[in-house]
Amino acid sequence: MPRVFSGIQPTGDPHIGNYFGAMKNYVRLGEEYGKNSIYCVVDLHAPTNPGAYDPNLLAGRTFEMAVANMAVGLDPAKVIFFAQSHVPEHTELAWLFTVMTPVGELERMTQYKDKAQKLESVPAGLLMYPVLMAADILLYKADTVPVGEDQTQHIELTREIARRFNHTFGETFPEPRAVYARDALRIPGVDGQGKMSKSKGETSTLGILEPFDSIWQKLRVAPTDPARVRRSDPGDPDKCLIGDYHKLFSDLPTIETVYVGCRTAGIGCVDCKKMLMEGVRRELTPVQERAAELKADPDRVRDALATGAREAREIAVPVMEEAREKAGFLKL
Ligand code: AMP
Ligand code: TRP
Repeated sequence: MPRVFSGIQPTGDPHIGNYFGAMKNYVRLGEEYGKNSIYCVVDLHAPTNPGAYDPNLLAGRTFEMAVANMAVGLDPAKVIFFAQSHVPEHTELAWLFTVMTPVGELERMTQYKDKAQKLESVPAGLLMYPVLMAADILLYKADTVPVGEDQTQHIELTREIARRFNHTFGETFPEPRAVYARDALRIPGVDGQGKMSKSKGETSTLGILEPFDSIWQKLRVAPTDPARVRRSDPGDPDKCLIGDYHKLFSDLPTIETVYVGCRTAGIGCVDCKKMLMEGVRRELTPVQERAAELKADPDRVRDALATGAREAREIAVPVMEEAREKAGFLKL
């Protein structure tokens, strides 16, 4: 049975890129793989985001991300779901990997280069980030990692780390591969400035728990196909982010209507956006209702995470023992 692992950063309210690109995929794989699918709110990764780390907000954001995943349908009774800092073996394995990973390999990571270049002083944790990520995955000997395509290079590095460890100390870890959500590799931001991303701020994102009037305010002013200057100009829905969003939220008859309507100037952009909003409400209303229920019962979420951490450690502790022993540490 393959084992699935994925991590999601505690960024508070996840956006529809996270939702279609990652979270829905976790639920689907969770139904297939049960307790062989492991999902982790990676709170230890959070402080590597310079500027975004606030110790007063971290716990709340971790809790919120747990709520969001459970609201989307991740069932902690069926899968293993926990927070990274509750399983200390993640950092221990990361150290074993740190000592054998060349700095040059880490400096080549595009995400590192992008982030480091904007900083005057680069914390070592930013460079080590992908080593901790490799430890997250390999601690469970996971072979299948559902992520967005921006994580491809990190998964490649994880494979390299597994190979190096196996080569040096004997066969221990599998070489995991990334699996991507179909049709949702790179969801564009609502500001029209490339990929939807938390780091670009609220103007780029549509939160899955965001109030509908706030979502509508962003959609209302969102750019559409620039060729459609007047209502009577035909447009190309394939060049329009509202067209992209319809493919995620709307049913087939609606997609047909707006695609034909746009190309023939039969409908205007505002009507098209209103129809999109109906799909958004249909998709996100049950998620928002479940999130409200969970927030009203925080102990349920805490208990789920505590159980998850125990289940995770049942796998992690023996793997860590094996890794420690293979790497030559004194066993008592
Ligand atoms: P992050 O919030 O960057 O930790 O991302 C959590 C997960 O969502 C990762 O698997 C990302 O690859 C995925 N993801 C983030 N933004 C997008 C996007 N705009 N489109 C598709 N997937 C995304
Ligand atoms: N780096 C991932 C991201 O930013 C989050 C992450 C941390 C992760 N550890 C992981 C994803 C392990 C998959 C597996 O989205």
